[in-house]
Amino acid sequence: MRSFFLWLSRQRLLRSWMESSSTARVLTKRFIAGNTLADEIAVSKELNADGILVALDHLGENVSTLDEATISRDHYLEAFRAIESEKLQASASIKLTQFGLDFSREVCLSNVVPLMEQARRLRTRVEIDMEDSSYTQRTLEIVEELHERYGCVRAVIQAYLHRTDADIERMNSLGIPVRLCKGAYRESAAVAIQDKLGVDANYVKQMYKLLDFGVYPAIASHDEAIVREALRYVKDRGYPAHRFEFQMLHGIRRDLQKHVVQAGYNLRLYVPYGEAWYPYFMRRLAERPANVWFLLRNMARA
Ligand code: FDA
Repeated sequence: MRSFFLWLSRQRLLRSWMESSSTARVLTKRFIAGNTLADEIAVSKELNADGILVALDHLGENVSTLDEATISRDHYLEAFRAIESEKLQASASIKLTQFGLDFSREVCLSNVVPLMEQARRLRTRVEIDMEDSSYTQRTLEIVEELHERYGCVRAVIQAYLHRTDADIERMNSLGIPVRLCKGAYRESAAVAIQDKLGVDANYVKQMYKLLDFGVYPAIASHDEAIVREALRYVKDRGYPAHRFEFQMLHGIRRDLQKHVVQAGYNLRLYVPYGEAWYPYFMRRLAERPANVWFLLRNMARA
């Protein structure tokens, strides 16, 4: 089932049909703030009022023209203006293929640098989402360059990859903040751990290394056992709450989100908006096929 949804997420024709469908809002409302920046601002303000930080994500990936990459940049520059004018407690989360990585590193950097300048000025951060493993090395090289030039960047490392142990060591040694997630793409056994228990065990191992030696790491998971283990680990060692943050996705495990905030820890929610919702949405279905029933119920109600 998981593989089927991940395969669906890459079907371009289905994607363009779905994204232009009038029932899209009904399908996506659980996971996505809305189509516009105004929708994103409204959701972010509510979350900030509840003491929750936000990572704004303007949906999009694998752009196919240089103009689309420039448009992505402009969307984020508009988002930074909103962060400033609305005084949002928010970072920006981006995918490098949205900024032209499929064309060249230079194109990509020329589109990302204006965002870094804004993030540094506003004392926030650009978080660089990790895409499939064909992008891992290139993405981390760009993160390292941005860290050296601007500082205000966060890498994302996926616990399912075999290379992760070495990547965490390197990010820690360079002082680069990391968001640790399990990994959301379909990967072969050559590059990634295939079973859930193995991924979870590696997640916990890397989480300890980040909490001990990392710079303001982000523990990004809705796995209750992992969140509770993180809480136990930091309490046992007396690590203060401001030393790291939890991250979760908008619309997932609101009960756990509440628990973390009530316990006095920092929580940042990843809140996507925009019209290019299809691949993101399919990855959320792949993670939990039970979401399909939720979807069908909403479609029946619409
Ligand atoms: P797991 O999949 O084991 O789920 C634990 C529990 O969480 C489930 O039992 C269920 O209750 C709930 N849950 C999880 N997913 C759900 C869903 N879709 N719908 C409903 N309930 C769900 N990946 C990546 O490859 N690159 C990236 O850059 C990022 N970025 C990112 C940012 C943030 C803030 C988060 C939280 C996650 C990501 N991810 C990601 C996604 C990540 O790799 C992973 O696919 C999901 O977080 C699901 O894994 P969990 O750790 O939640 O555990």
